[in-house]
Amino acid sequence: MTKEHILENTRQFVKKTLLGEASGHDWWHIVRVTKTALTIAKSEGADLFICEMAALLHDMADSKLFDEGKALAGVKHFLSQQGLTQNQIAAITSIMTGISYKGGHNSAELSLEGKVVQDADRLDAIGAIGIARTFVYSGNKGRLIYDPSMKPREHLTLEDYRKGEDTAIMHFYEKLLKLKDLMNTTEGKRLAQGRHQFMESYLQQFYAEWEGER
Ligand code: ADP
Ligand code: NI
Repeated sequence: MTKEHILENTRQFVKKTLLGEASGHDWWHIVRVTKTALTIAKSEGADLFICEMAALLHDMADSKLFDEGKALAGVKHFLSQQGLTQNQIAAITSIMTGISYKGGHNSAELSLEGKVVQDADRLDAIGAIGIARTFVYSGNKGRLIYDPSMKPREHLTLEDYRKGEDTAIMHFYEKLLKLKDLMNTTEGKRLAQGRHQFMESYLQQFYAEWEGER
């Protein structure tokens, strides 16, 4: 099978699974992350095939969405059916398990390709799109937009991070605004700047409207 053929089979495999995902991890998240990953990969000289495959598959064994072990076994099976080598499969699946934020509790060592895909995934969590995804996720979980009496938490355990006694606005402080300084690559850092500034001005406007001032 050619690489293009494998990529196309992978797109179909992922699309079928994530098309209707309703918490901001849908197929179009995957499409955006894949595009951004390729942009960053080119400027970093990373392996384009591994980056594109890992970006396509990166949420396919996410513990928020699936039983992680089962889903990962399913992906490995799919990849061996595509004729990938054990090394290629390991390169891709270690990225899948290594890049998730988990409230800052994932300390996996990443390959260059892993750093690229992690930056691309994080870029989709910030800026205009990141804001939209955060409100969708929060709404999907039945949480509030904002509650002035609830303050962002400092040292979150993974359990607290997932448990969700938070509001959408709290999530800006607990994750989104931290991502700019956690970018791995030069191109990722550059892209994060503008998206970060956009979130800062969004929050200023938000609080001004909240107080009836603007
Ligand atoms: P990862 O997918 O890397 O493990 P997260 O679990 O933080 O990272 O989730 C990815 C996206 O889902 C976030 O960028 C955000 O848009 C949304 N999200 C996750 N947790 C929350 C939350 N508590 N409140 C609002 N949005 C959230
Ligand atoms: Ni993702």
